[in-house]
Amino acid sequence: MQSSTEVNWQAIREDFPILHQQVHGKPLIYFDSAASSQKPRAVLDALRHYYEHDHANVHRGLHVLSTRATEAYEAARAKVAKYLNAASVDEIIFTRGTTEGINLVANTWGVRFLREGDVILLTEMEHHSNLVPWQMLAERTGARLRFVPVRTDGTLEMGALDSLLTSEVKLFAFTHISNSLGTINPVADLCRAARSVGAVSLVDAAQSAGHVPIDVQEMGCDFLAFSGHKMCGPTGIGALYGRAELLDAMPPWHGGGEMILSVTYEGSTFKKAPGKFEAGTPNIADAIGLGAAIDYIENIGREAIFQHDAELAAYAHRRLEELPGVRVLGPSERAGLVGFVMEAAHPHDLTTYADQYGLALRGGHHCNQPLMRKFRLPGTNRASFYFYNTAAEIDRMIEILENAVRFFA
Ligand SMILES: Cc1ncc(COP(=O)(O)O)c(C=O)c1O
Repeated sequence: MQSSTEVNWQAIREDFPILHQQVHGKPLIYFDSAASSQKPRAVLDALRHYYEHDHANVHRGLHVLSTRATEAYEAARAKVAKYLNAASVDEIIFTRGTTEGINLVANTWGVRFLREGDVILLTEMEHHSNLVPWQMLAERTGARLRFVPVRTDGTLEMGALDSLLTSEVKLFAFTHISNSLGTINPVADLCRAARSVGAVSLVDAAQSAGHVPIDVQEMGCDFLAFSGHKMCGPTGIGALYGRAELLDAMPPWHGGGEMILSVTYEGSTFKKAPGKFEAGTPNIADAIGLGAAIDYIENIGREAIFQHDAELAAYAHRRLEELPGVRVLGPSERAGLVGFVMEAAHPHDLTTYADQYGLALRGGHHCNQPLMRKFRLPGTNRASFYFYNTAAEIDRMIEILENAVRFFA
């Protein structure tokens, strides 16, 4: 394991062709990796290699290309399993991303096991992806939603758990890292609390999978969903981890080819997981690309990545607080992103202003509308960092924002 100081971050930055360009005549500063990260050459090469040499449909073919494609696709699944320390590769289902993973659980486990009067416990900081599917499920089943409150400092009101986690709670779903506040939730504690009342736990790892070591067995979660595109992988691919026992008990979601054992005109029998949940031709190329992204990240090490990004975020936090009329949200112990508001500028206006100087920020509600409403904000600005960002880029951001304070005043 290497520490952050042992990594040659500058050399790593060179692996990302997209970063070396000008935007509006200025060097690009990409501070929007929480929305989607950039891709290293190794991932782009893996995609190109697959299409140039190995592409065919998987699983059904008895020819060389199909065998190669199948082996590469299944090897990618094994990489995901190892990356999360799942007990078995069969616990990994490829999905389009976090959103699809959560919807899969809602539409299979949720529809089979939730009844009227049951409770789905969430937190007030959930991304719409980990809220709307549960609202839809509640509507369908008669279940109710409850929320663990978020305190003004952006952390969870852990003291409220005792009264919220009653025996009616059948599912507790929460984010590992907040996409708007940068809060790192105590996920293992939350999973343990869920288990203590017999509830199933689901971790939204969209903001953590590419940033911190994850061990699903140690964490003790039942489900965990993440997206490849936020961790150097291609868009349109992600994975859902599900504990084998739960996956076995769940009905399939989508029906079609690949997921069946036998079909008659009258009915069908289904494969075991993960095949049962992967109907149709899968996203072979991007799964292979995700495998390449995992190799790339593992080569650096998630401990070092986390340390690097958290240091950038702490530095940005400090510098942003020096600016008049700028307020930083979220706790001081944070992951690699900083949410802030500039009194004089609407988040959209500030984002457009920053873009003129080559600075890619995000501004808006960040798919956290209820949380923004709770904090009485129209939205926030967010600078999110990854291991290819530098402190010099933060200095440049501060210069741009200093000018923005004057401009909007
Ligand atoms: C915390 C969190 N959950 C879920 C998602 C949804 O991810 P995707 O759009 O890749 O499915 C995001 C995306 O920003 C996120 O930040």
